[in-house]
Amino acid sequence: MPDLLSQLEELAAAARREVAAAADERALEELRVRLLGKKGELSAALRGMGQLPAEERPRVGEVANRVRDQIETLLAEGRARLAKAKLDAELSGPPLDPTPPGRQLLPRGHRHPITLAAEEIAAIFGRLGYEVASGPEIELDWYNFEALRIAADHPARDMQDTFYVDSKTLGGAQPPRSVVLRTHTSPVQIRAMKRRAKPPVRVICPGRVYRSDYDQTHSPMFHQVEGLCVDEGITFADLKGTLAAFARAFFGPGTKTRFRPSYFPFVEPGAEVDVSCSICGGTGRKDGKRCGTCKETGWLEVLGAGMVHPEVLENGGMPKGVTGFAFGFGVERMAMLRYRVDDLRLFFENDLRFLGQF
Ligand code: FA5
Repeated sequence: MPDLLSQLEELAAAARREVAAAADERALEELRVRLLGKKGELSAALRGMGQLPAEERPRVGEVANRVRDQIETLLAEGRARLAKAKLDAELSGPPLDPTPPGRQLLPRGHRHPITLAAEEIAAIFGRLGYEVASGPEIELDWYNFEALRIAADHPARDMQDTFYVDSKTLGGAQPPRSVVLRTHTSPVQIRAMKRRAKPPVRVICPGRVYRSDYDQTHSPMFHQVEGLCVDEGITFADLKGTLAAFARAFFGPGTKTRFRPSYFPFVEPGAEVDVSCSICGGTGRKDGKRCGTCKETGWLEVLGAGMVHPEVLENGGMPKGVTGFAFGFGVERMAMLRYRVDDLRLFFENDLRFLGQF
């Protein structure tokens, strides 16, 4: 037995020397395996225990446990010593330069599906002879509502739940409720006509708009594309032909569209235009269940349109006698139909598993 005990004590002494000499984490790990591993030196020493008389075994077992604890403590101290030395070396070494270019090539992203859809819409209208115009997202009430014949007490204001900009944040420079986050891209109609001053005006205006809305097909920030065509002799037939041509170019030759009479104060006559729902193929049912996207109707409303009201043409500075049509659609709705996405909110969650599919 004295042999075995001294062998164990010698193991502890060796561990103390070798841990002190270990130069890195790897050396410590090798030492741990060599001393404490299943096939290590401690296990090998204890294998001799079987030959000892039964009364001697508890004492040897006790010493073996103590030695194991000692070695484990030594190894932990050794690791802490190495970590501290590494940190000290980093802190006293030359400062880290975070500016060099990265060495790893990261996969390149791509444009967001809403951007892709808006660009495609712009390209189709580009081929039809339309230019791109833009206007501010923080807009004066006059452009967003008044110039479009939506007076302060007009019930049509209720159709667009507006975010008003607190006039205090504008230093009181504007009267209360006179600055809004634009609720649609239609104010760009007025700005584009004023900028151009005389017909022909043929523009589309893509951009962000804001409303206090939130569900499967409505989000508080979304994108619209406005279209405006003003010239001599423009009729409703031009509007229908233009939108039907666009729907076929964007959704494919078999796409159905339907015009429903509707009211917007800035057009007369006005219409809402629906496109057949591509999620359920226009049937209203999907996988034996009600299609939530089109609410079982088979149609999705994608845009409002109509002949520009003469007062709006006048507010835009157009000469008497010219006519025009305008339309405005939701880009998210177009992208949902085009890419068969059944919840508009997915576009804004930035989940790479979703975005990677486009
Ligand atoms: C308008 O905003 C009118 N300015 C459109 C217009 C332009 C009519 C020119 C006549 C002439 P409306 O509120 O219906 O209309 O919105 C137009 C489209 O925006 C809707 O058809 C729908 O596709 C989309 N839309 C409306 N609210 C939301 C929302 N919260 N989230 C996503 N898309 C929306």
